[in-house]
Parts: sequence; structure tokens; C-alpha cells
Amino acid sequence: MEPFAAELAEWLPPNDAVARPLVALATLGLDGYPDVRHVLLSEFDATGFFFHTDARSRKVAELAAAPRASFTIAWPELGRQLTVVGDTSEADDAELSRVYDGRSPYLQVLAHLNDASFAAQALDARLSGWATFTAAHPTGTLTPPATWTGIHLRPRRVTFWHGRPDTASQRTEYTREADGSWSLATLPG
Ligand SMILES: Cc1cc2nc3c(=O)[nH]c(=O)nc-3n(C[C@H](O)[C@H](O)[C@H](O)COP(=O)(O)O)c2cc1C
Repeated sequence: MEPFAAELAEWLPPNDAVARPLVALATLGLDGYPDVRHVLLSEFDATGFFFHTDARSRKVAELAAAPRASFTIAWPELGRQLTVVGDTSEADDAELSRVYDGRSPYLQVLAHLNDASFAAQALDARLSGWATFTAAHPTGTLTPPATWTGIHLRPRRVTFWHGRPDTASQRTEYTREADGSWSLATLPG
């Protein structure tokens, strides 16, 4: 078990909690510039962190070219920030289906309709297209579209920022070494 597993479990909601944490996920842009957007953290386990997205998205093209990413999330009121850097790969189908089944009806529909041609339509067409699709697919009947994919981020650096009002903030940073062990550094906030 990773030396930070307990702290991670204390900071992140369990995988079966319906409300998922919103994180800023950064990738390497094809133009060489960093690229960042918010996504939901779907799950995490001892192997890493999972996100779900459209396989045709920019982030997926970027990860195909450079399978490395970072995400960060802060809870300022708790004096906490978590930052993770690591290597990415495609999540497996079993994980994909499990996450899809746990998503809200809205997000299940969104996975089907969230494409460039739908987005390009006028609002009235998008409203009627959404209504027609949801009427034809009652809640609980949808399965993940082929365009839905999962990103698995295997961490190589995990940083916990601890802020306090009564003393200086401080970070504990875990780095995975070549032999798979984790080293720990304490850093200023
Ligand atoms: C609150 C919120 C939650 C979001 N959750 C996701 C998500 O889980 N997966 C996803 O692909 N995009 C999600 N998005 C949309 C992304 O921020 C982004 O616009 C989209 O994925 C396209 O990004 P890309 O062009 O860089 O690939 C979310 C946006 C917001 C504001």
C-alpha cells in the first residue's frame, strides 16, 4: 500500500459517493503549451486515478501524443490542496462500464450527445434533440457509447499541501522511485 493511501482516502470522497470531486486536469498541448480543463474524478484506487471523457476530445488526442498528465484540487476551507503528476493509459472496459452505470442520468445522456455536430446546433434544436433522446432512452437503459473512454493516471508524484491559519503552510510530497518505492520530502507551502 502507498504510504499516502490513508491521507488520500481521508481527503477524497469514496468511489461510491454520487458527488464526484472536480479537478483541474492538465495535459501537454499538441502545440507545446500546457492545456487544462476541469473534469470529474471518477474513481481512485491503489493503481491510480480515473477520469472519463469523449474519445474524440482534445485531451485524448494530447494524451495519445504524450501520455502524461497532472491534476490539482483544493479545499481552501480545510487548508488542503492535492496535486498529482503521472503517466496515463486507457482505462479498461470493466471500469468504464461500472463508472458509467454510476453516473447521473444527465451525464449518461451527455456521453451520447456531447459531440461536435450536436454542439453546433441552435439552442432550440439542442433542446428538442435532448428531449427526443431522453424520451427514447428511459433512465437505466443506456450503456456507454463507443466514444466514451476512461483515462487512468498512475501517479509518480503526489503532493499534499497543508494550510493552517496559525503557522506557515507546508507540503508533504511523495515521489515514486525507479524501484517502485516512494520517497517523502517535506517542502514549504
Ligand atoms: C463542472 C464541470 C465538470 C466537467 N466534467 C467533465 C468530465 O468529467 N469529463 C469531461 O470530459 N469533461 C468534463 N467537463 C468539460 C471539460 O472541462 C472540457 O470542456 C471538455 O472535456 C473538453 O476538453 P478538451 O477539449 O480539453 O478535451 C466538465 C466541465 C465542468 C465545468
